[in-house]
Amino acid sequence: MKRRTAMVTGGAQGIGFCISRTLLKDGWSVVMADIDAEAGSEAVARLRRGGPVAFVPTDVADDDSVKRAVQEMVRRFGRIDAVINNAGISAPYNGPVEKVTPDQWNRILGVNLTGTFLTTRHAASYLRKARGSIVNIASTRALQSEPNSEAYAASKGGLLALTHALAVSLGPAIRVNAICPGWIDVTGLKKRSLRRPATLSRADHAQHPVGRVGVPEDIAAAVRFLVGPESGFITGQNLVIDGGMTRRMIYVE
Ligand SMILES: NC(=O)c1ccc[n+]([C@@H]2O[C@H](COP(=O)([O-])OP(=O)(O)OC[C@H]3O[C@@H](n4cnc5c(N)ncnc54)[C@H](O)[C@@H]3O)[C@@H](O)[C@H]2O)c1
Repeated sequence: MKRRTAMVTGGAQGIGFCISRTLLKDGWSVVMADIDAEAGSEAVARLRRGGPVAFVPTDVADDDSVKRAVQEMVRRFGRIDAVINNAGISAPYNGPVEKVTPDQWNRILGVNLTGTFLTTRHAASYLRKARGSIVNIASTRALQSEPNSEAYAASKGGLLALTHALAVSLGPAIRVNAICPGWIDVTGLKKRSLRRPATLSRADHAQHPVGRVGVPEDIAAAVRFLVGPESGFITGQNLVIDGGMTRRMIYVE
């Protein structure tokens, strides 16, 4: 059987890096489509011994850039079995809604939501041929909010709707699912210049019903399942992976 091949957007750091590493370990070829060239070359150096891996500089919000990335992936590996739409502008705060500029709003929507439309648009014919799947990395902020996070929340909520819409349109050949991560500590998987020791308090861990903050491996394990044959009857779904945080009821004392 030919090696399965995945595109992981935002795959050079954080959760995306962990997903790339996990799929490589499972025998996939991986293309990390990321906007950060420094992070991309470091990530390739770290993963190269794990299997066929490539970094393709990509801005997922730009149609031409995504088209080039897909073409480059097909040129190198000849097929696309999975697209993991993970690239995101992850800082959720944009200040009070009156102060958010249309440019800031559009950039967050462009990367976090339109990016998934663009990768799908260009990769769908290859995914169809491979009877592959798409996994969209949303956020528990699609489901609940802190103040001043409108653009991020809207982008992630949109991603959940896009997930079920695509599942219906692209089935039965392509399955499409989403994951909503909660708090995932990615400090250890940043590029060297941004890497900092984690500063998590006992209270940070304790507020989660499972007793700890999440790690990128928690998300990568679910991606592995959703792109694999064991999840063949699952499409259009959203898997919340948050240590139970969105299930906890909170009252002010
Ligand atoms: N870490 C968390 O607690 C958490 C929680 C919920 C959801 N998420 C989501 O998970 C995903 C990954 O988050 P993370 O914490 O690993 O973030 P991160 O910032 O550590 O990594 C994101 C990666 O995406 C890349 N990227 C940013 N803009 C891009 C663009 N326009 N085109 C291509 N690549 C781009 C960055 O260069 C970076 O390598 C994001 O979609 C984020 O919204 C994260």
